[in-house]
Amino acid sequence: MASDAVVDKGRRRFLTATTSVVGGAGVVLAAIPFVKSWEPSAAAKSAGAPVLADIGKIEPGQKVTFAWRGLPVFVVNRTKAQLDALAGEDSRLKDPKSENTDQQPEYAKNEYRSIKPEWLVVTGICTHLGCVPDFFPELKPEPFDPQWKGGFYCPCHKSRYDISGRVFDGVPAPANLAVPPYTFIDDTHIMIGVDPGKEAA
Ligand code: FES
Repeated sequence: MASDAVVDKGRRRFLTATTSVVGGAGVVLAAIPFVKSWEPSAAAKSAGAPVLADIGKIEPGQKVTFAWRGLPVFVVNRTKAQLDALAGEDSRLKDPKSENTDQQPEYAKNEYRSIKPEWLVVTGICTHLGCVPDFFPELKPEPFDPQWKGGFYCPCHKSRYDISGRVFDGVPAPANLAVPPYTFIDDTHIMIGVDPGKEAA
């Protein structure tokens, strides 16, 4: 596990500190307790250098947050139950087919919004006003949605996203969570900030 990662098991979060802060993206991001250890330097990363993410120890159903360009990037190891539930959500979503091409690279424009079905990689910034959504991975009724099948809930103004980061109808967020460029280095590592087969953006 990369030491700049923030582990999140839904309700059993080890590090929180971000989502109770209401405000712009800059305010929220400043509170994220990332530990900086990867090379290149933090300054280089914020300028756009790619980030190598070790995903080998992310358990099924777990989310880990990595820092890239000063943004939180959520990496989720989705379970089969979470993936199976996706198809039933389309009628409740604003953009179920990911037709807003600004929100994901072409290689993530598919039913899972990802390169490999089990691995979700999205920017953890609500598309409404930039808060960091909470992770609610369980397929069970939640106070904010009795039909909940796992996903993300933004506490700032109650926007909801499914486990692919697709935004629900009837919430203030206008678009799905963005998928950053990324590529698989091997089965346990991804490089965030690089499209498959290309040099760093
Ligand atoms: S910032 Fe997320 S709902 Fe407003």
